[in-house]
Amino acid sequence: MSDIKLLTPEETAQILGLSPKTIKDWCRAGYIKAVKIGKGGIWRIPENELDRLIKERSGKREVRKIAIALSKGGVGKTTTAVNLAAGLAIAGNKVLVIDTDTQGQVAPLLGVKPPTGLSDVLGNSISLENAIYKARENLDILAGGSSLAATKISISKNLDQPQFALAVALEPLNGKYDYVIIDTAPSWDILNLCVLFFAHEVLVPISLEVLSVQGLVQFQDNLDAVAKYQQNLELKYILPTFLDNRVKRSNEIYEQLKTAYSDKICDPIHYNSKIAEAPAKGQPIFEFDPNSIGADDYWKLVDRVKGRR
Ligand SMILES: Nc1ncnc2c1ncn2[C@@H]1O[C@H](COP(=O)(O)OP(=O)(O)OP(=O)(O)O)[C@@H](O)[C@H]1O
Ligand SMILES: [Mg+2]
Repeated sequence: MSDIKLLTPEETAQILGLSPKTIKDWCRAGYIKAVKIGKGGIWRIPENELDRLIKERSGKREVRKIAIALSKGGVGKTTTAVNLAAGLAIAGNKVLVIDTDTQGQVAPLLGVKPPTGLSDVLGNSISLENAIYKARENLDILAGGSSLAATKISISKNLDQPQFALAVALEPLNGKYDYVIIDTAPSWDILNLCVLFFAHEVLVPISLEVLSVQGLVQFQDNLDAVAKYQQNLELKYILPTFLDNRVKRSNEIYEQLKTAYSDKICDPIHYNSKIAEAPAKGQPIFEFDPNSIGADDYWKLVDRVKGRR
């Protein structure tokens, strides 16, 4: 570290054409791996971090559509959708998070109450542009909720090819975002199918218990069936969740997954009480407790998705 040049937030900001405040926010949130110097704790940015940022910001904008899915409930899908989307947005990407679940938990997890959402778009009662709600800087939401129950019936009844409903309705998004993250319901219904005909990448959170691993095998069969018609679809990431190092079985399953899916497996998300507490405040983990192990774990996922790990 000693021979690496360190820059001030002001110098870094000038080079990147950003405000010093943005740079300090990035340091605080852990997006920039900066060091704190002196008693007052002044941020200094290593030159290699600056190189990385320059490279990333010069990359071209191509929307990546990532579905967070597994038919099993309670594995951390919504938690992952919200924190991955929030982390990518903090890192300067333009992100849309779409909630396709009737439980509609994405909005409360972000502490917002959008008046409109996905059901309005699929029901043609409002334009896509007007249904999207700004939740944070760089982070928009297309909300889900109970009204999607009627939407599912209506698209199944009225459309010849209901599986394309989402891809058609969301076509105007292309080119407007860097990432579209889609939270899905723990089921296998028409809306889940629509998501797989819209997304190109699938991230499967697996809670480290036997039943959810069995769920993965079944889910993969379903994905394979869709992939015959949607060749751009790829099961890209498997994310172990609820890792508890004190529980032997939890570690055993993690090791088995690493062997079986070595190219897809991501660093695990540990069981972390801060992650469970953050929803009550309507905050992603990076806002609720940026120093928690949960925030570290989700930063690693952001890095992996961005191709930095
Ligand atoms: N790593 C974690 N550590 C502790 N608690 C967590 C963790 N991840 C998620 N939780 C909590 O576990 C519960 C289930 O998580 P979440 O709602 O994200 O699962 P889900 O797969 O979306 O569920 P569903 O299938 O019902 O939509 C939530 O209360 C959430 O706050
Ligand atoms: Mg959920």
